[in-house]
This record gives sequence, C-alpha cells and structure tokens, in this order.
Amino acid sequence: MVANWKMNPVSLGEARALFSKVKRAAARLGRTEVVVCPPFVFLNALLAGRVKLGAQDAFFENFGRYTGEVSPRMLVSSGVSFVIIGHSERRALGESDDIVSKKAAAALRDGLKVILCVGERERDGEGGHFEFLKNQIKQSLFAVRGRFLGHLVIAYEPLFAIGKSASDALKPALIRETVIFIRKTLSDIYGQEAARGVSVLYGGSVEPDNARAIFLDGGVSGALVGHKSLEAQDFVKMLKSIDAV
Ligand code: PGA
Repeated sequence: MVANWKMNPVSLGEARALFSKVKRAAARLGRTEVVVCPPFVFLNALLAGRVKLGAQDAFFENFGRYTGEVSPRMLVSSGVSFVIIGHSERRALGESDDIVSKKAAAALRDGLKVILCVGERERDGEGGHFEFLKNQIKQSLFAVRGRFLGHLVIAYEPLFAIGKSASDALKPALIRETVIFIRKTLSDIYGQEAARGVSVLYGGSVEPDNARAIFLDGGVSGALVGHKSLEAQDFVKMLKSIDAV
C-alpha cells in the first residue's frame, strides 16, 4: 500500500504525527508492505522501518547544475527506498514519456524501487485506451532494462478517477481487465519471466468504501492512495482491509 501525500501536509509537525499513526498501525499488519511518500523536505525527518519511505519524484542525474532537482543517490542516502515516477500530475506539468523513462532508469540503477504511474485520460467505449496504455508503457520504460523489473511497480491510475470519491473509482472488473492488459504488454516487451516480477497497483479514489472490493476483485497487488492517505483513520482502515485479503 502506497501513500502519496502529494504537496501535503503543510508542516513537519503534522507530517510526523501522520507518519507515526501509520507506523503504529503497520506494526500490527501481517505481510502487507506499506510505503509512505511525503514531500522531499520531510523525508530526512521521518524514520523508515516497518513503513518504507518513498519520494514523489527523482531526477535522472545524480549531481550537478540542475537547480531544484533531487537525485536518486540523495534519496538513497536519506533512507528512501521507493520513488514514484511519472505521476499524472507531473506529466500534466510537462513531463514527457522520454523524461519519465530516463528518471525510471536512473532511479533503478541507483537501487531505488520505482513506482511507475500510467493511465489513460479518458475511455471512449471503443477500447482506444488499450492502445494508449500500450504506447505509454513502452515509451515510459524505453530506457529500462529487463534485469531491473524485479524492482519495478506499475501504478495504474486512470486520470478521470483521481481525486474523486469511492463511487468514481474504476470498477473492479475493469481494473482487472486493464491489469491483465498491462501484464501482457510488459510480457511482450520483456518476456513472461521478467514481467512476472512486476507488481501492479491501482490508484484513483481508493477509499475505505471500495478498497476491499478492489483488492478482492481488481487483480491488483495493492493501491496507490492519494487523498485518503492524509486521513490516518481511513488509511489505517484500508491497510487492515488489504492485510485481510
Ligand atoms: P487519489 O489520488 O487517491 O486522491 O485519487 C491517487 C493518486 O493521484 O495517486
């Protein structure tokens, strides 16, 4: 289960409080892996343990004249083990598939696990989203070698379902169908064996009300949770429901 805090909360105090609630709940889970992705500035102040730390982005070079960027190696030295790459909110700010692919490759080379976000903007009822997804996955992984696939997680997030409420999330049967398609695409690129090592998550309005159905029937290994990861009680509820599946 991955918590994507986005540009929240506003203070370190709030970040610490939220993180410690998640940590306490995670200590009581079975085999569910929990990753929290706070803004960069909070990473050094939060101590990874049973809960792993993830960043929300990383640059494709490790040092140099790149004002404002943060490198994979800096993240590793801050105790970070995961990084979200290619989130739709970053793509909307101009991040191309080419940049996403360079970032994913660089992060994997430096030992981070990459949560690569993909997802269509809309569905036309004629299956056009499959072609879109296939191309997006191919382009976003262009620079990534097959031997890194064991450290790759795909987060499938249809853009129209992000930031809404439980009833707006994609239905579990459609998630399942899309996850199968994503797996098939990975296996066409890298071969079946390598593709098997990739976990696929769903993201887009996962809330306590739909989490269980998505975990049971969506064919996913977990979820990337945005707004409901900022509400400790709700996030903990979802952790318990995935751990029980
Ligand atoms: P949401 O965000 O859970 O608020 O829909 C998911 C995401 O953007 O990763």
